[in-house]
Amino acid sequence: MSATAPWDATSLATRYDEVRAHTERLAAPLSPEDQTVQSMPDVSPTKWHRAHVTWFFETFVLSPHEPGFAPFQDRYWFLFNSYYESLGPRYSRPDRGLVTRPGAHDVGLYRGNVDDRMRDLVASLDDGTVDKLAPTVELGFHHEQQHQELLLMDIKHVLSRNPLEPVYGGTRPARTEPDDLGWVDVEGGLVEVGHEGEGFAFDNELPRHRQWLEPYRLADRLVTNGEWLRFMADGGYARHELWLSDGWATVQREGWRAPLYWSEHDGVWLEHTLHGTWPVNPGLPVGHVSFYEAEAYATWAGKRLPSEGEWEHAVVEDGQGDAARSGGNLADLEHFHPSAAPAAGGEHRLRQVYGDCWEWTSSAYHPYPGFRAADGAIGEYNGKFMSNQMVLRGGCALTPPAHARLTYRNFFPHRARWALTGVRLADGGTPREVGGPAGRG
Ligand SMILES: [Fe+2]
Repeated sequence: MSATAPWDATSLATRYDEVRAHTERLAAPLSPEDQTVQSMPDVSPTKWHRAHVTWFFETFVLSPHEPGFAPFQDRYWFLFNSYYESLGPRYSRPDRGLVTRPGAHDVGLYRGNVDDRMRDLVASLDDGTVDKLAPTVELGFHHEQQHQELLLMDIKHVLSRNPLEPVYGGTRPARTEPDDLGWVDVEGGLVEVGHEGEGFAFDNELPRHRQWLEPYRLADRLVTNGEWLRFMADGGYARHELWLSDGWATVQREGWRAPLYWSEHDGVWLEHTLHGTWPVNPGLPVGHVSFYEAEAYATWAGKRLPSEGEWEHAVVEDGQGDAARSGGNLADLEHFHPSAAPAAGGEHRLRQVYGDCWEWTSSAYHPYPGFRAADGAIGEYNGKFMSNQMVLRGGCALTPPAHARLTYRNFFPHRARWALTGVRLADGGTPREVGGPAGRG
């Protein structure tokens, strides 16, 4: 990972308290019962998120550095390890919702204990030791923020299974209609992609490297619910010719006929949100669609998805480096739902770059040329997931602002829909080959 320099004991302790307190703020509206449910294997209970991010600090910071270290509880290492094989066996992920003890209150005690010990440890460090520890503590901050986003995505799914349509929070946007979609032309050529500079980045954003891009264009906003309704009305979910083979098989198997969280009642489409269930708002970006659906939509529209290199380069060309993310609809605004695109003609030509919905790209999640995972258990953080997933860019309305970086590479499997994922179209450049060789029988 690439660290932000330099930390001292005070700034590290202050940031630690901010990040940890924010997780508790997000969990505060949820009852112990809300925090216990796992509504599907991809979802983790809220209290598990709260405990797992605590386990991360206990395992990677306190265990190697705290004098006389002893774990808070003997078996928590087994319960709250997520996927680190080099740390030994762990509890089955799809069964996290079966664990009623520790309860939400006891997870709070675990958090408080680790917080006290982390504060004591950081306060005892001299400058040289701070430099040694800071990269791992900072990784812990970013890890916890990733889980803050997951906590919201997961509780959205949990609450979606409740017929009482509970509200978590956020605000309900006024009904809006989509404005015209514009296009931003980009010259391409030999460009550089990937993280540079002093700020924090995950290892998967490195190394910075060159890519060749043919001329291309990007849509100036995300695809809207209104446009998605037209896709549906035109048989989008019933026309095999629009779909990749794996996608079509998934549509059949899962019975998909609309985005996740949409349901039809008396001919009206409703959408479950963190602010309750509303009629689908045509001017808002469509969310909770899989890569397969994004691909099918792009095919239906006669367009394609952008590659991650195209996305990143276009955003740079549009003057929207990391400083521009503060204008985005990210979790700090607490809408917890995508917003309508601002009117065209503003400071930047590409609208909704940061926030609203993570944007599917056509790029497989593979290592950048020259990528090397770190040694030890921490090397399992990103690298081992580099197969069978697609890259998403930009962040969503549930993303902490520090995770909406220009070079941030999010990734999910092709069929995943519970993340807040949407679509930006691309056109031009590397067009799809028409009339190529016959497929394999
Ligand atoms: Fe984690």
